Amino acid sequence: MNDKKASNQMWGGRFASGPAAVMEAINASISFDRKLYAQDIRGSLAHSEMLAETGIISAEDQQKIAHGLNTILKEIEDGDFTFSTRLEDIHMNVEARLAELIGPAAGRLHTARSRNDQVAVDFRLWVKEELQRTAGALKRLISAFLDKAEAHAATVMPGFTHLQAAQPVTFGHHAMAYVEMFGRDLSRVRDAIGRMDESPLGAAALAGTGFPIDRHHTARALGFREPTRNSLDSVSDRDFALEFLSIAAIASTHLSRLAEEIVIWSTPQFGFVRLSDSFSTGSSIMPQKKNPDAAELIRAKTGRVNGHLMGLLTVMKGLPLSYSKDMQEDKEAVFDAAETLELSLAAMTGMVSDMTLNEAAMKRAAGAGYSTATDLADWLVREAGLPFREAHHVTGRAVALAEARRIGLEKLPLEELKALHAGITDDVYSVLSVQNSVKSRKSFGGTAPQEVRKQVRYWRKRLKNA
Ligand code: ARG
Repeated sequence: MNDKKASNQMWGGRFASGPAAVMEAINASISFDRKLYAQDIRGSLAHSEMLAETGIISAEDQQKIAHGLNTILKEIEDGDFTFSTRLEDIHMNVEARLAELIGPAAGRLHTARSRNDQVAVDFRLWVKEELQRTAGALKRLISAFLDKAEAHAATVMPGFTHLQAAQPVTFGHHAMAYVEMFGRDLSRVRDAIGRMDESPLGAAALAGTGFPIDRHHTARALGFREPTRNSLDSVSDRDFALEFLSIAAIASTHLSRLAEEIVIWSTPQFGFVRLSDSFSTGSSIMPQKKNPDAAELIRAKTGRVNGHLMGLLTVMKGLPLSYSKDMQEDKEAVFDAAETLELSLAAMTGMVSDMTLNEAAMKRAAGAGYSTATDLADWLVREAGLPFREAHHVTGRAVALAEARRIGLEKLPLEELKALHAGITDDVYSVLSVQNSVKSRKSFGGTAPQEVRKQVRYWRKRLKNA
């Protein structure tokens, strides 16, 4: 292609040198898939060892290849490697450099292999490793919550539905709700690793190969449980990337709910938590302000991660088997989601560990809004033998009375309560306080401090092998 002649009106502008440059720009992935260099080299080392083992290449060539690949690894890690867009992607950049370093033996590395199975194995290795990092980050966040839950197993706060104060709960219980959520995220990570633990290397372009390769050998060498069982699927499957993104999207969604709660809790109107200075910022013009920026950004970054999931689902939908170049679009989504999730998890862990609770404000809020009304109704059922519907009705009248007098339920005199229902005795006051209300909810998984402590113990043990 004559570059000069091609400076065309239609595709001019930035691409002054013509269609070859436009093609190069749209085709190349090296700007982002260079991130796979370590996996690419590891895959090639394993492949070349297997080729020598099975007699497909000579031991001498394999030694040259291995030496060259290790040199390249060092060059890249030392920042001495020149990546070239003309060479399209990481696979060709490495191979071209290998030829420079070792000469013709380099040409033997690509025997019984294609870039299709090469990219599939590289990317699986990368995603598997990233999931291990995700698991570690989730465990650190869960640990931070367990510490908070243990310290505040008996600290009361309002429990909400519709963001309206509903019934008092303990902060420990609320914290443990997030432990359950992030715990499920962690188990999704483990499940996904198990499913993607199969090596696609050796599927070659799409149909397998006539060379006597040993796919079990390369699978083992690369730390996979076993080789994949269908070559067409091996080069066209990106479920592992989609699973990573869906795990990231769900975890990010959990993070955003928590971030939103932190934003609400740290307002002066709620005043439940105080964020450390390291996780908040001041306002440049309003000296009284302390903004929960980290929480807001975590909340916002969820949009990015969820968007990447939708993006890759859309890339993959309708793609015929087996490989299509469309699939090159899988990487940036996963890389950006991974980076975003890692950052958000780390920031959230820091924020949760550092934040302090305003127990007095939480207690005050826990008792407001007749939050123990359900306890009164339950008491009427339990102690006075009323059917729940009637108890609900009597309680409604008690709330109306207290509201009219602008006092709490526990401040209503016994005679007035008796006037609502004759069966009410002095004992009722034992459930009208917030503290007693939470203590009474000791059903399995309930908010009682003793139950919260039990769940903390359970999770500490479970986290050891998670
Ligand atoms: N850079 C490509 C990708 O990420 C590698 C595979 C290229 N295969 C091909 N047949 N052109 O998908």
